[in-house]
Amino acid sequence: MAKEAVWSMAFILCIAMAARSEKEINMVFYMHDVVAGSNRTAAQVGAGSSIKPGFGAMVVIDDALTRTPSPDSTLVGRAQGMYLSDSLAILTSPDSLLAFTAILEWPGEYSGSTLSIQGGNRMFMDQREVSVVGGTGKFRFALGYATVHNVSTALQFNVTVRVP
Ligand SMILES: *[C@@H]1O[C@H](CO)[C@@H](O)[C@H](O)[C@H]1NC(C)=O
Ligand SMILES: *[C@@H]1O[C@H](CO)[C@@H](O)[C@H](O)[C@H]1NC(C)=O
Ligand SMILES: *[C@@H]1O[C@H](CO)[C@@H](O)[C@H](O)[C@H]1NC(C)=O
Repeated sequence: MAKEAVWSMAFILCIAMAARSEKEINMVFYMHDVVAGSNRTAAQVGAGSSIKPGFGAMVVIDDALTRTPSPDSTLVGRAQGMYLSDSLAILTSPDSLLAFTAILEWPGEYSGSTLSIQGGNRMFMDQREVSVVGGTGKFRFALGYATVHNVSTALQFNVTVRVP
């Protein structure tokens, strides 16, 4: 057999092995962004700009992530990061750039692993979508997306990631 043929067979085998080991993981959690009261987990650190009221306002978060919309349900982890009001059409199409690290505690196999989530939370839409741009621990090289949806006072994240 020609050397080239052997090499291309080895290459195809590598691709096939890589494709077989890739896993798709789905996970749903609920974020509780508490902006008022003694147990608040979100603090506004920027009031916005002079261009338009609210434009540029920034909030730093350390929000609980739970298994169900109830804040008393099992703690899945915490969302540490921020959101930033970045739509000039703030009244008709409010958007905030969400950028946070989901530091997971539950289930045990993911404890200590993280997901980096980032994207536009276009609040006027019923279903929004943000990116999962990476991760650590069990989620090294993770890539995917999350749909975002209001459920009572919580934000539902339905995360789908592929992990090599
Ligand atoms: C804050 O959290 C504590 C402990 O979970 C709870 O007992 C208390 O009622 C909460 N306070 C408010 C204002 O929600
Ligand atoms: C989702 O909740 C946010 C914050 O309470 C609100 O501003 C927004 O209008 C809601 N979006 C929808 C589509 O109900
Ligand atoms: C989350 O997304 C998956 C895949 O799209 C879907 O099967 C599942 O029903 C969704 N879960 C919820 C709670 O919406």
